[in-house]
Formats: sequence, C-alpha cells, structure tokens
Amino acid sequence: MSKLIRFGVSLEEDLLIKFDRLIRKKKYTNRSEALRDMIRDELVKKEWTENKEVTGAITLVYDHHTRELVNKVLDVQHDYHACILSTQHIHLDHHNCFEIIVTKGKSKEIEELYQKLKSIKSVKHAGFMMATKGTDLS
Ligand code: NI
Repeated sequence: MSKLIRFGVSLEEDLLIKFDRLIRKKKYTNRSEALRDMIRDELVKKEWTENKEVTGAITLVYDHHTRELVNKVLDVQHDYHACILSTQHIHLDHHNCFEIIVTKGKSKEIEELYQKLKSIKSVKHAGFMMATKGTDLS
C-alpha cells in the first residue's frame, strides 16, 4: 500500500453541501473514502477508453425456446473465447434464461462482444459492467 498523503481542497459551499448529501445517500462515512472511490472509478473509465486489459461482466436475459437464439449466443461467445473467463447460465423459469459472462481482455474487444450479443434478435435484455484487473489501482 502506498503512503497516505493529506491535501486541502477548496470548494464552493453549495457544491460541498451537495457532495455531502450525495455521499451520505451512498452510505459513505467520510469524504475521503467517497473521493477515493470517485477517483478509482475515473481511473477505471480511463483504462476502458485507452483500450487497456480490463475485466467486465455481461448479462443476458433470453427465452431459450426462441428458434436458433441459443446457437447464435453460443456462436458469438465462441468467436470471443479468448476474452471469456466463465459463463454462468441460470434457468429463471420454463422459458427465460439469465446468463452472466465474465470477461478479461482488451476493452474494445469486450465492448464488441457485448454489442454483438446485445444486438442478437430476441435477446430480451443485455447488461454491461466495466471493471478492472485492479493492478493499477491502490
Ligand atoms: Ni436456461
């Protein structure tokens, strides 16, 4: 862990009031931890915009009875096998499936995989979460 450094921040009072309200709602107990998380979020976004090696999760909801849909979902995943770490398939009910695809690779490739899965006809919902390998964050 790197050395802890204190620094002063000057803010307009109104902005600080809004910040305190926001972090209270998000259950932070102090400003420092809220600020650290915001900085880390921005650094992770930067990793994604700079096409760094990142991690992420893609979720899909679809009806497995829809003709050819499962094959299409599988074909796309096999095309991107190098950046898929694992896939979890949950049968929600008689029709609906929930799939979680955990990825690691170049951000552009993961975004491409997400777009291809999302745009398959009859996929009911596709979700996406950017994450990081964590190696460049403290
Ligand atoms: Ni299923």
